[in-house]
Amino acid sequence: MPIELPDLPYPRTALEPHITAATLDLHHGVHHRAYVDAARRLLEGSGLEELALEDIVRRARGRLFEQAAQAWNHAFHWTCLSPRGGGEPGGRLGDLLARRYGDFPRFRDEFAHAALGLAGSGWAWLVQHPDGSPGIVVTHGASTPLTGAGTPLLACDLWEHAYYLDRQDARDRYLEAFWNVVDWEAAGKRLR
Ligand SMILES: [Fe+2]
Repeated sequence: MPIELPDLPYPRTALEPHITAATLDLHHGVHHRAYVDAARRLLEGSGLEELALEDIVRRARGRLFEQAAQAWNHAFHWTCLSPRGGGEPGGRLGDLLARRYGDFPRFRDEFAHAALGLAGSGWAWLVQHPDGSPGIVVTHGASTPLTGAGTPLLACDLWEHAYYLDRQDARDRYLEAFWNVVDWEAAGKRLR
């Protein structure tokens, strides 16, 4: 099953001014494409060619794992953003976050604290643990909660390529922009 570069689920200018078209062109069109291309090359002869991308990520090791995981992480990340995003989650996700973190601003502060505490490149995630509770997870490099027991609900790319054109090295300002385009409806639909 070939690994594909998915189209962005919105026009390249749709997330402006929070995330610019220039950043999406670079991030999706160059970086994400490079992960897909490398994963496809490394997949040849691996014995995993017939698997879906999620299963390749769960089974692969080494370079193939890194490139395939980044291909999946990015495809997932794009679906976490929306020009109609922002605000606060409602419904069951809103209730779960309020129960775990007290209120939404406190969740956001904890997420930002975890994201800003990561040295180097990686991802910040909202996951649903097997017991149903929500949790914040930060992963290094290409590592992804897809290989663990929890269900990924939301991903924030913390590699500098996600924000340096728009925010230089100010990860805190990128996170503020991220909250304006988070697709809480999509995150809520991922709950088990
Ligand atoms: Fe990225």
